[in-house]
Amino acid sequence: AAADPAEGQKVFGKCKACHNADKGGANQVGPNLWNVVGGPHAHSATFTYSSVIAGMHDKTWSYEELNAFLTSPKTYAPGTKMTFAGLSKPQDRAAVIAFLRGQSDS
Ligand code: HEM
Repeated sequence: AAADPAEGQKVFGKCKACHNADKGGANQVGPNLWNVVGGPHAHSATFTYSSVIAGMHDKTWSYEELNAFLTSPKTYAPGTKMTFAGLSKPQDRAAVIAFLRGQSDS
């Protein structure tokens, strides 16, 4: 089945300790995630990233890159400040990426 944004909003509950994905939402422990899909790594101009994520600013958060990061943040970006084990289920990753895709101006 295609990834379901409504299912992804439920999965995003696991992210809400540190993030919101609302337009104009504040940074928390992690950056606001509005417009992150399709944007550059370290997409927020107002969040202080780790050097590893800041150093990837020339890369794009494509679905593939988000899928890899969310599988295991510390494997993808050793030294990342995102102290989250990751989402082990592919369908959970696809759903949360579909949800985040909608949290965007485009
Ligand atoms: C960074 C997504 C859970 C803390 C990021 C980024 C994404 C993301 C896409 C990169 C943002 C950018 O480059 O602008 C998610 C999703 C989560 C989740 C979808 C749930 C499945 C968490 C949790 C925490 C957290 C639970 C806190 C314990 C952070 C921090 C960063 C970050 C601190 C900055 C990383 C760095 O500078 O190394 N997150 N996140 N995230 N996230 Fe998460």
